[in-house]
Amino acid sequence: MKILEITGGQKLSGTIRISGAKNSAVALIPAAILAETETTICNIPEITDTDNLCDILNNLGVKTKRASESIIIDSTNMQNQVINEEFSKKLRASYYFMGALLGKYKKVTMHFPGGCSIGARPIDLHLKGFEALGATVKKEENKYTVEADRLIGCPIYLDFASVGATINIMLAAVKAEGRTTIDNAAKEPEIVNVATFLNNMGARITGAGTSTIRIDGVKHLHGCFHEVIPDRIEAGTYTIIGALCGENLKIDNIIPEHIESLTSKLQEIGAKLEIGSDYITISRSENYKATNIKTSTYPGFPTDLQQPFSILLTQCNGKCKIEETIFENRFMQVPYLCQMGADISVKNQTATFIGPTKLKGKEVVATDLRAGASLVAASLIAEGTTKITNVEHILRGYENIVEKLTQVGAKIKREEI
Ligand code: EPZ
Repeated sequence: MKILEITGGQKLSGTIRISGAKNSAVALIPAAILAETETTICNIPEITDTDNLCDILNNLGVKTKRASESIIIDSTNMQNQVINEEFSKKLRASYYFMGALLGKYKKVTMHFPGGCSIGARPIDLHLKGFEALGATVKKEENKYTVEADRLIGCPIYLDFASVGATINIMLAAVKAEGRTTIDNAAKEPEIVNVATFLNNMGARITGAGTSTIRIDGVKHLHGCFHEVIPDRIEAGTYTIIGALCGENLKIDNIIPEHIESLTSKLQEIGAKLEIGSDYITISRSENYKATNIKTSTYPGFPTDLQQPFSILLTQCNGKCKIEETIFENRFMQVPYLCQMGADISVKNQTATFIGPTKLKGKEVVATDLRAGASLVAASLIAEGTTKITNVEHILRGYENIVEKLTQVGAKIKREEI
């Protein structure tokens, strides 16, 4: 098992360069099979999630070539075959192969695991979209077979603006006959990045980034060159760390508009930050005002940043609240933060913080990706040394986190036990 050992109290200065967005890359890699010729995607983060998706591609006979931060994908000789649980259970985003294989072959059979630690995470909206396009869905235990004689474009309304369902329906609809309209579509920047990739292949998608996306089906899609957008959640995580213990810490290669909900919240509590065209510079302030957070879909405050942000709330003067509206179980870092000295109570979907509190290094466990990231942030300001186990969760979504933090002055090391 991999662990991180972090000694708190260091001021972090220098520059952290943000990598490509995990939540875009994990959709772009399956989407690439829709092209009949070779695609090149650059700025792909080197994390276990992208490695696991390449394993699925290779298992389908797709040739992949990894250069640093880019990947060449050639599906010329691929075969459509069952995606077994050994592959699909490694990450939830494997479900994008449902839309991609349905869109390419009109049939997909894959094992797909149920929820995960942060919630049930059903895929009913994905399946409803596939059925609306004319597919039948057969479920045997956790094996899904989705197939259609023809995929016919149609209007689809999403009961919830689901990121995954929006992307998966796009992947299934790009080669359907006629027009598909997705209403109440998710508006996250990653959706725009995927739609742009598909349009570069020759698809006809308009409205991505708004709540109404129109897809006019085409017969053929060709290879192209594409770039992953910077990871707004990684950028937000390091910006929060800068607010906790930075000294002119520069977070570089970002799209500031993508984390406007975070930067405006940081300014509200009194953080000292400078927002440039593609960077943020931030330093720790001595006094942070209390505030409240309510997570919501983009452009609201992202659920993926509420866990890292919770560390800042332990340092604010007074009472703060976080209301988590997207996932049902996303406060799993709280017991560990309380062990470290935080004063937090959780009732239903709301966590209440009384601050400021001094944090002390302890032995803690990363229960999920963003909880793990929040424990890294807490360790950096805690007195003494913190050991975090189960860090595979963290390495899934933060490229070179140890190297990036070390180079700005953090005392952090990765060990195998
Ligand atoms: C994506 O998950 C991200 N993952 C998540 O990031 C992110 O938290 C989430 O969007 C919200 O922004 C990837 O992009 C790989 P949803 P996704 O479908 O697509 C319910 C991280 O830390 N729902 O928008 O699964 C669902 O249960 C991860 O990087 C249904 O009920 O999110 C949840 O409560 C965590 N039925 C809510 O919608 C469905 O068919 C949001 O889910 C689909 C979703």
